[in-house]
Amino acid sequence: MANINVEKRGAVLRLTFNRPEALNAVNQATIGELEHAVGSLRDDPDVRVAILTGSGEKAFVAGADIRELPVGDVLKSRPFAERMQRLTRDLETCGKPVIAAVNGYALGGGMEIVLACTIRLASEKAKFGLPEINLGIMPGWGGTQRLSRIVGVGRALAWTLTGDHISAQEALQMGLVAKVVPPERLQPEADEWADRLVKKSAPALQCIMQAVRASAELPIDRGLELEANLLSLLLATPEAAEGIRAFLEKRK
Ligand code: COA
Repeated sequence: MANINVEKRGAVLRLTFNRPEALNAVNQATIGELEHAVGSLRDDPDVRVAILTGSGEKAFVAGADIRELPVGDVLKSRPFAERMQRLTRDLETCGKPVIAAVNGYALGGGMEIVLACTIRLASEKAKFGLPEINLGIMPGWGGTQRLSRIVGVGRALAWTLTGDHISAQEALQMGLVAKVVPPERLQPEADEWADRLVKKSAPALQCIMQAVRASAELPIDRGLELEANLLSLLLATPEAAEGIRAFLEKRK
């Protein structure tokens, strides 16, 4: 692919945004490549975990490609937002953990892609933000919906209304990222998380992601019902039989 490097290491798929001349901004061609990559992630049974990152140290993704925004064209702008909302939703619900290794700027659409990932890791140099307000527009790839669910409505309003950048440390304090590491540790750290997740039961990972995500939407009794249903399904899997047997036999 021209704008996203795709590498497979065992069961780990690594996607690296690679348009350094535009700080990895997502243009139409990149969208098509990302749709293809997310489809492979979902459908390839040999892939268990994905890592998303950006090439170089400066940017993860600096947003939608501003040069290609469908300015003044309502007939194009709504399908554009819907296409990217579908894509970020597909990424979020693909059933496999997706680790964002945020190496630099994750702004606008870049931040919105990060918000749809399962686990977010950041380099000390990472900077997050939804600066669309400074262009006289607003986030349209899920940012207003996901940011508030992750960090709360108050912080989401503060950041979307000012467009301010958020440092990696602030992101950590708010729970936007799970861990911040020095730049040279970011890729090894992402690989370690991926390698740990690859060893877990795939159906259990999938059910846990589904249940935790549903907690943001469901009344508690519906959520508990879903949790009980998924647990009873998992207890019937060969992965559970093996995991429980291994514990009882004191195997690692
Ligand atoms: N779309 C298209 N091109 C972009 C881009 C974007 N979202 N973000 C950066 N670029 C391009 C710049 O136009 C510049 O290209 P040029 O060298 O041909 O002029 C190149 O990437 C480097 O960016 P530059 O602004 O010179 O780097 P910087 O270090 O001064 O600033 C940022 C970095 C990320 C703070 C700044 O580029 C920026 O604010 N980008 C836009 C972020 C944004 O608003 N995203 C939401 C879009 S909806």
